[in-house]
Amino acid sequence: MAAASIHLNAGTKRFLDEPHRLLINNEWVATDGGDTIAVNDPATGLQIAEHEGASEADVDRAVAAARAALTGPWSKLSPADRGKLLWKLADLMDQNAATICELEVLNNGMPMIAAQLGSTVFAPDYLRYCAGWATKILGDTIPTSRPPMDPDGESLVYTLKEPIGVVGAIIPWNHPGSMMALKLGPALATGCTLVLKVAELTPLTNFFMARLAVEAGFPPGVINVISGYGERAGAALANHPDVDKIAFTGSTAVGKEIIKASAGNLKRVSLELGGKSPVVVMPDANIDKAVAGAIPAAFFLSGQNCMAGTRLFLHARIHDEFIDKLSAGVGMLKVGSGFDPEAFIGPLISERQRQRVLGYIDAARAEGADIIVGGQATGERGYFVQPTVAANTTRDMQVVREEVFGPVLSVRRFETEDLDAIAAEANDTIYGLSGSVWTQNISTAHRLVKRIDAGQVSINCHAAIDPATPFGGNKQSGWGREFGKEGLQPYLKTKAVSIML
Ligand code: NAI
Ligand code: MG
Repeated sequence: MAAASIHLNAGTKRFLDEPHRLLINNEWVATDGGDTIAVNDPATGLQIAEHEGASEADVDRAVAAARAALTGPWSKLSPADRGKLLWKLADLMDQNAATICELEVLNNGMPMIAAQLGSTVFAPDYLRYCAGWATKILGDTIPTSRPPMDPDGESLVYTLKEPIGVVGAIIPWNHPGSMMALKLGPALATGCTLVLKVAELTPLTNFFMARLAVEAGFPPGVINVISGYGERAGAALANHPDVDKIAFTGSTAVGKEIIKASAGNLKRVSLELGGKSPVVVMPDANIDKAVAGAIPAAFFLSGQNCMAGTRLFLHARIHDEFIDKLSAGVGMLKVGSGFDPEAFIGPLISERQRQRVLGYIDAARAEGADIIVGGQATGERGYFVQPTVAANTTRDMQVVREEVFGPVLSVRRFETEDLDAIAAEANDTIYGLSGSVWTQNISTAHRLVKRIDAGQVSINCHAAIDPATPFGGNKQSGWGREFGKEGLQPYLKTKAVSIML
């Protein structure tokens, strides 16, 4: 077993050795004709577990459970009691933080600190944030000008905010614990039920959290958790006639498939997709701070995150100094297992993903970029790639245009100080998820922010994530927003009620 050389806590070891099935109606059930799927440790490439991937029949069962639960005891719970259940789950996550982190590192490869911050600080905090909203979902009272029936009569019109119904949530492998919290929080706060299809590469943390959800006391059928191949289990969920809404996080290509699949019953769709976010450094920026920010912006989770700042724009006046400091900083990033406390760059999720990333690096070389740091696969085993900086890139290069989802930063030099021209370059992408501007001039900062077409633009920092701050994409980065007050809206529907008094 790959985990043998790593010291894991007893709870983690026990969990790994147990069967990993499907959670339907609060019971762990065997698949009906689904797939057996291996789970690997990406730091070693060795198998650590196997699990059952859902068949179409399993998806039917899970959706039926969620549908029945929608009008069961769950619907009779008060908003405050829904909030308490979310708090309970968050508390259980705190109590099991060590196991959650070990599973994240083992199954995804991320550094331990990223597991701690994402899955045991952010994720439970996000659940608590949503728990607070459960009691604050309000309709309106509406003064109308045309009373129904009798124009001289009196009327009262108000709106009810109702749960949208059965949610099919589909999440990727890049941060399993926090991705699960992002789907559970708003769905449960609003009173929906859900079938969560986790990523077939990284089901372990999600299955563990699903056990905690049962322990927390959510009624049967409210939270159903299945894994399975995207083309099979994911597609069955996206196509299902009895699912009211899909909440999807993943690639833009699959996002488009989800939209097509939604046509059958016109289910609602929210999408958190890819990105190619710009980091724009103006000549008056604090260079040391900008270098210190640009490195994690590009390389956090080995670049396997949707808001990664992978297009770095450097003004000509500071370009060379910046490149020197950037190269030194990136060159010092340690590549290694997430269990090594000094490693910042963990493995990529799979050999397939590694080959894909190396293909982008080769293409960058062939198209004339200068690979000034990294550029190679590394490590005796596992799916590691060196953190890589491609300098002197141009707008048409593949590495500049496409989401690499690996530790590859492309750098471009710009000469102008015309903000419209700078923004035109920054916006020259099909994506619009995140972005940052680095300058000490407050008016340059705000004028550039206005011109950048992205759901989230930061000044002198990149991609600050907080439960209260809306997050989501423009253009092909997605539909809708998660987090914050806005994050609840995709899970609600409005009913207008007119009364003739
Ligand atoms: P993916 O988009 O195929 O997988 C994400 C989730 O969607 C998984 O749970 C998967 O099982 C499911 N899925 C796949 N095909 C589906 C379908 N036809 N219907 C319903 N669900 C489906 O991502 P993949 O293939 O793992 O990664 C490929 C590339 O996608 C990455 O290199 C990266 O560029 C991008 N990606 C972007 C993410 C983001 O958050 N921006 C997350 C994951 C991948
Ligand atoms: Mg795919």
